[in-house]
Amino acid sequence: MSMSDLCAVVLAAGQGKRMQSALTKVLHPIAGRPLVYYPVRAAVDAGATRIVVVTSREHHAEVGDYLESTFGSALARCVVQDPPSGTGDAARVGIEGIELDRVLILYGDTPLLDKQDLMKLLTSLQADSRPELALMTALLDDPRGYGRVLRSPDGKVREVREDRDLSNDQQRAVREVNAGVYAARTGFLKDAVARLTPGNAQGEYYLSDVVAMAAEGGGAVAMIGDAGALAGVNDRAQLVAAEELMYARIAARHLHSGVTVRGGARIDESVGIEPDASIEAGVVLRGATHVGAGTTIDVGCVVTDSSIGKNAKLKPYSVVSESRIADGAQIGPFAHLRPGSRIDEDAHVGNFVETKKTHMRRGSKANHLAYLGDGEIGEAANVGAGTIFCNYDGFQKHQTIIGDRAFIGSDSQIVAPVRIGNDAYVATGTTVTRDVPDDALAIARTKQENKAGYAPRLKARLKGAGTKPKPEPEAEPE
Ligand code: UD1
Ligand code: CA
Repeated sequence: MSMSDLCAVVLAAGQGKRMQSALTKVLHPIAGRPLVYYPVRAAVDAGATRIVVVTSREHHAEVGDYLESTFGSALARCVVQDPPSGTGDAARVGIEGIELDRVLILYGDTPLLDKQDLMKLLTSLQADSRPELALMTALLDDPRGYGRVLRSPDGKVREVREDRDLSNDQQRAVREVNAGVYAARTGFLKDAVARLTPGNAQGEYYLSDVVAMAAEGGGAVAMIGDAGALAGVNDRAQLVAAEELMYARIAARHLHSGVTVRGGARIDESVGIEPDASIEAGVVLRGATHVGAGTTIDVGCVVTDSSIGKNAKLKPYSVVSESRIADGAQIGPFAHLRPGSRIDEDAHVGNFVETKKTHMRRGSKANHLAYLGDGEIGEAANVGAGTIFCNYDGFQKHQTIIGDRAFIGSDSQIVAPVRIGNDAYVATGTTVTRDVPDDALAIARTKQENKAGYAPRLKARLKGAGTKPKPEPEAEPE
């Protein structure tokens, strides 16, 4: 049997009432991706070549759009179950029209399920006894609320009975529960779901009833899986608990591949990190972020949709969004790189520096207290403390261009649009409003005057003003 005979159905039409949210449950994010991403991904990784996600009419469009943009419509598509009348009915809708030999049925709210578990489940479907159905189970200390796996005296799986349909305490005490993950022969399952009836406590079509049908026919086998990995998300407490486990799993994966990840770092599933990088405590790495080899992301940094080169340093509490940082660059502490920032090799962006749509070329430095918006900064330029690119006139944004090796003295305002040439020098405290040619010095500030011996007189007068200081000193004698 080839891998390509496998398809998967993900059930996601339930109302998710316990989330108390305007957003449908399976689109709530954990570790940066919607819940539904995970079972679809696990099914694809286990070899499924077609995935059908069953949704309610209400959420069909949004879930469908997400799946199409993430997996492509050839791989994953959405079908509507209307009205949602149980997991058995949802499975019936999902497998309609499927011709592949084997099918995996997963629930959309079990994000921690992984490929390995699915592979094992598929292997048990291939057992010599040729069972028609394999289901995943878990042993729980508190099995309340779950369907119980009831076995015959010889240990064979006989049926799954839902919590509300259990008939005695002996059944209630059974700790083995149905995890809601099944692998089946498609022909058997199509036939079985067509025969389901809603004669139970909830008046619903239970998918779990197909277990008894398989047991009576070609056989059902159960595989006991890890209880943590099978946990479902029904409310927000379970959502954040599942997310914690997901972050721990992601951290373990990076630790295993040569990346140091210290406690409390939260790395999205979508983030790539090369070996010998260090991700320190409390760091958050989100979205399409990539971190190069040997780079340190120090305590408390938040990086979103950004790429960071090799041997770079992000010092503590820097915030970087939609930006590119090249090899060897140093950022922070307390730097804010807003979207469109590009920091080239060995450039430095220091504390309390904010950049936006600004390109700093190789070896340039802006080490303290600056706002650099809509700029082009050449190689090896030095931008002094307190420099502001005045890029906005209240209506439009304008560009500041600074040449190679230019020096911008502290507390300068650069009123864009303006160009400062190569090797130019802007004196401290200058307001630059006109272009500065290459090699020129720009200086625009009032001349300093020293009044000899005046300081003691001034102090005496200010002291004499007593408890009633005037807001403005009197006119000074010339
Ligand atoms: C289900 C199982 C139970 C198992 C438990 C494991 C049934 C009848 N019961 O119970 O044996 O122990 O999961 O977590 O299968 N859904 C639809 N359409 C519907 C109803 C549900 O698509 O009409 C989807 C939901 O969106 C959800 C999944 O099916 O993703 C499971 O439904 P849920 O109501 O959460 O089932 P449980 O009561 O948890
Ligand atoms: Ca559930």
